[in-house]
Amino acid sequence: MRDSSVLDVNIIELPKVHDDRGSLAVIEKDVIPFKIKRVYYLYDVPSDAYRGGHAHKELYQFLIPLSGSFDVILKDSKTKKKVTLNKPNKGLIIVPGIWRELENFSSGAVCLVLASEDYDELDYIRDYQDFKLLKSR
Ligand code: TYD
Repeated sequence: MRDSSVLDVNIIELPKVHDDRGSLAVIEKDVIPFKIKRVYYLYDVPSDAYRGGHAHKELYQFLIPLSGSFDVILKDSKTKKKVTLNKPNKGLIIVPGIWRELENFSSGAVCLVLASEDYDELDYIRDYQDFKLLKSR
């Protein structure tokens, strides 16, 4: 598996246009380091729910808190990092080979995910011990 580190996980601030009619944020293709193949979103997430709990072998993702807030816990072989996403114009690029957990969803939170590949269960590593083993190789 890729030798990525939590330092490779970046917050991207999207340009926004704000006036007295509200705000508009723009995602242009050049700000994302991959071609988008799939879009999905998490919503109606109970505040005590725990999502993620896996890593991907090849998939890149861009997570955007369209509404509300939630925490993303990121782990590589050595380091753990927590990022709170709570601004609709600030998203998180997660590179392959990073363990992620999503938790602490606020009421009404919506997490938009732009993904680099089609859904493929074979790309997931869902067991944390397997993840640690693969990262140590
Ligand atoms: P999963 O990726 O484990 O969700 P999360 O990381 O948010 O906890 O997916 C949850 C379920 O949804 C799992 O059974 C697979 C299914 N799923 C799809 O069918 N297509 C998709 O594009 C995604 C992301 C998940």
